[in-house]
Amino acid sequence: MKTTAIIGGSGLTKMGSLKIIEQTHQQTPYGLPSSACTIGELCGQTIIFLARHGDPHTIAPHKVNYRANLWALKQAGAEQIIAVAAVGGITPEMQPARIAIPEQIIDYSYDREHTYFAAELEPVNHIDFSYPYDENLRQQLINSATALQLNIQPNGVYGCTQGPRLETAAEITRLQRDGCDLVGMTGMPEAALARELEIPYACIAVVANWAAGKSSGEISMPEIIKNLEQGMTDTEQLLQQFFIHASIQGSTDD
Ligand code: HPA
Repeated sequence: MKTTAIIGGSGLTKMGSLKIIEQTHQQTPYGLPSSACTIGELCGQTIIFLARHGDPHTIAPHKVNYRANLWALKQAGAEQIIAVAAVGGITPEMQPARIAIPEQIIDYSYDREHTYFAAELEPVNHIDFSYPYDENLRQQLINSATALQLNIQPNGVYGCTQGPRLETAAEITRLQRDGCDLVGMTGMPEAALARELEIPYACIAVVANWAAGKSSGEISMPEIIKNLEQGMTDTEQLLQQFFIHASIQGSTDD
């Protein structure tokens, strides 16, 4: 099986189920990544784990050095990436604590270092990004959820906002009109940078709250934390199933 990297988001700074082998501190041409790369073993597979917001969680979404993170994972040997991200739910099926495996992105973020092709005098490379997530990886995650009878949403359009503030209700209405089902702050430029590095990339989006204006009350941190705890427990199970399946596939391929 390809060596898999997991980028942990809010609520997943560490993976309890990972048997740690070593931690490597990667230097990159783009500066330092958010955290060390933790190399470990999960269900017989070697995994690289990186905490997107640092460990402890101190780096805001617009301050994450996405270029260094993706570069560090590639340098550490990542051949595919599963990104875990907390999101707000916009459409009715995206209720809090549920997991979605999005299939499309609309990018509303700005002022982030978003490409490796930024050096002057170098030819510009326009990557194909029609389908931002790797379909094969997406399907493997969906199959793992089915095997666990986990009630996930196997699709969805992820709208990436700038943060760190949450959106206004009118902004969410606009995102919904555009076709977004989910809203998060870290999906971009992460997905595009993975594509530039030619690393297959998919996302497990964990719904932390109803997006602004979609429920009666204010969005509260205790509510977000409670939903994320439930969603991250399901996410760890999903990842374990994904790697168990990969191990079985690997042994039958031998
Ligand atoms: N909006 C943007 N990002 C988020 C949200 C939200 O409501 N919840 C968790 N991440």
